[in-house]
Amino acid sequence: MPFTMTADLTHCGALLDAMPDPALLVGQDRRILLANPAARELFAAPLNGASALSYLRQPEPAAALDRALAALAEGARGKPGFEARMFQTSPTRETVLRLTAVPLAPEQGLPGVLVTLRDISHVEEAEQQRRDFVANVSHEMRSPLTVLAGFIETLKGPARDDPAATAQFLDIMEREAQRMSRLVSDLLSLSRVESEEKVRPRAMVSLSEVLRATLAALRPQIDEAGLVVDFRDLPEAPQIPGDRDQLVQVFHNLIENALKYGASGGRIDVSLDRVEALPGLSGPALKVQVRDHGDGIDAIHLPRLTERFYRVDGHRSRAMGGTGLGLAIVKHIVNRHRGKFTIRSTRGEGSTFAVALPIA
Ligand SMILES: Nc1ncnc2c1ncn2[C@@H]1O[C@H](COP(=O)(O)OP(=O)(O)O)[C@@H](O)[C@H]1O
Ligand SMILES: [Mg+2]
Repeated sequence: MPFTMTADLTHCGALLDAMPDPALLVGQDRRILLANPAARELFAAPLNGASALSYLRQPEPAAALDRALAALAEGARGKPGFEARMFQTSPTRETVLRLTAVPLAPEQGLPGVLVTLRDISHVEEAEQQRRDFVANVSHEMRSPLTVLAGFIETLKGPARDDPAATAQFLDIMEREAQRMSRLVSDLLSLSRVESEEKVRPRAMVSLSEVLRATLAALRPQIDEAGLVVDFRDLPEAPQIPGDRDQLVQVFHNLIENALKYGASGGRIDVSLDRVEALPGLSGPALKVQVRDHGDGIDAIHLPRLTERFYRVDGHRSRAMGGTGLGLAIVKHIVNRHRGKFTIRSTRGEGSTFAVALPIA
């Protein structure tokens, strides 16, 4: 078929059908001349012949369409199009769409406005997360800074000649400075792990060795808490691809959390096992479980525990020197290893944090 510069509805329909985003061709009378499958799916309607306004019912999108139609009637050329945000609510989720309405050139045989809709929910969500993150970091930084500034003031003034008070204040200031430095190093680890998340580690590591080294490093805290840690090793465990420092970080945080929040149970069990299959993993894996017998965690908190700065009890976490970033870091490191991280807990009985890492 020879190609002519004058398009018709059939050609245009074929083009629209090939577009991944929902698209409509709307005529001067606001009737829908053409709709592609993505648009029919979005509005769950056949659309052809219907009034566009009954689908673009919100004021902003309707106004954008009308401005584009007015531009079309005035014979406007080369207009960039008119944009609006549109909200689409379904029983399961709220979608935010960016609507663009572009007047088409009438002499090419298509008097109408091309309306495209793009789902921008994830962009908006990411922006919201970034704003929340900045607000959280600022909030976490402010409290130790306030304490430091207050004590500096006191040391310069009322407590200047009081050595006992000075010593006591310096201890508090040291603790707050350490809190800020932990926060900064956790933020740095988080950003490093996130940026490396797509690159799977290739070095081979022994999880038995990682667990033994982590337990040795935590020995003073374990003894101080008066706890018993039972480590059930798997001597024949193969080495797996992994980043040793990051895996130490994972188990350090999980065991430290068990010490901090599960101490009332008296005992912590750490185990290493081989599992042949797990949902979400393609082959055999090594599974490390850290189990405490403390108070446990209410089920409503479980899905959110790996969010940055999410804590069940903020006061308790801060009093223990926590940053609220530990489990977020754990989740990202496990993802980078293509592994699986699960949390189970029963109120009054304790919690089990499990990390499964693929053998190959
Ligand atoms: N073993 C546990 N038992 C009870 N609660 C826990 C346990 N581990 C973690 N949590 C809860 O999860 C929160 C987040 O843990 P984490 O991300 O490591 O931050 P942090 O330890 O710095 O508070 C903790 O503040 C605590 O409320
Ligand atoms: Mg922690």
